[in-house]
Amino acid sequence: MVKREMKVTPYDVRGKIDYDRLINEFGLERITDNILKRIEKHAGEMHFMLRRKIFFAGRDLKWVLDEYEKGNKFFLYTGRGPSGPIHLGHLGTWIFAKWLQDKFGAELWFQFTDDEKFLLGKNESMEEVQKWMYENMLDIIALGFDPKKTYFLVDTKHAGMIYPEAIKVAKRITYSMVKSSFGFNESTNIGLIFFTSVQAVPAFLPSVLKKKKIPCLIPHAIDQDTHFRITRDILPKLGYRKPASIQNSFLTPLSGPEGKMSSSKSSGAILTTDSPKEVERKVKKYAFSGGQKTTKDHREKGGNPDVDVAYQWLNYFLEEDDRKLQEIYEKYESGEMLTSELKEILIDKINAFLKEHQKKREKAKKIVDDFIYK
Ligand code: TRP
Repeated sequence: MVKREMKVTPYDVRGKIDYDRLINEFGLERITDNILKRIEKHAGEMHFMLRRKIFFAGRDLKWVLDEYEKGNKFFLYTGRGPSGPIHLGHLGTWIFAKWLQDKFGAELWFQFTDDEKFLLGKNESMEEVQKWMYENMLDIIALGFDPKKTYFLVDTKHAGMIYPEAIKVAKRITYSMVKSSFGFNESTNIGLIFFTSVQAVPAFLPSVLKKKKIPCLIPHAIDQDTHFRITRDILPKLGYRKPASIQNSFLTPLSGPEGKMSSSKSSGAILTTDSPKEVERKVKKYAFSGGQKTTKDHREKGGNPDVDVAYQWLNYFLEEDDRKLQEIYEKYESGEMLTSELKEILIDKINAFLKEHQKKREKAKKIVDDFIYK
């Protein structure tokens, strides 16, 4: 198969992702041991996603911790473009954001970019985007964010608050600045060309509302960095500090290590609403295996957990226990554990997680309104 060239922008992720290359190209800072220690000191524990380098890069983390230590607490900002159902790959950023909220007592501003997804969609009506937004809110609430400290911002609903700030950002951005970074061309609709100025706003909106400058930390998947490189260029010109960020890698798609997961390709993703049977079917049928072709070969040569998607998923968030994970690694690598056995472990883990998640997702229906900013 021809190797497809890597591309990582908010609107296009493809090829095999080379994270080292992205760190260089985007000019990101790797998360150093010193930063990890400081986070651990304040949190009282080390999150496994930090230890495993799922969150591996960022911007201005040193600064945001310096401020925190001076008593100047940061708020968190992240978001979701409601274009379809939530799959397991989306959850990593938010699980970690919830941990940051708990450990640092931080407010979380959560933006729903219904405008962006309407502008981006081929045929989706605004009604469909609104339906997905509601469904997505349930998944986010189910993760346990604190309703007293979490504010959902909906771009089209809170437009009266967002728009006056967005135009200040937009005035400083030219078409040539966004063209190549987002892959826009002469046929791109003008809404999308404007959009990055909307995504910039929550990074300083709390400062506007509270009339004081509050540090902002954005947990996000690395493809969103394009937006925030621009945001960081502009905010000092408006009198605000650049937002800091902490960035995660993608969960490898079920079907193999190219691109990022997508809900529209059922072979690649497991949805938060999938039934245990569906989970079993997808994992057995699609999960890319690092095992050998025959059992005999596998016993002799062993499997390769580093490319095995079931193993990658356990590592990403489904097996929090380092010792158990290490044991699986060794058994699979030595050939003692077969691919079918590894897949069974994953299926059980996903189904246990989803059973709880789906319960909380049902309960979330009663409290959605509490999360919407008023
Ligand atoms: N554009 C993002 C998406 O398509 C949604 C988003 C808005 C976001 N603000 C954010 C993501 C801040 C991470 C951080 O999903």
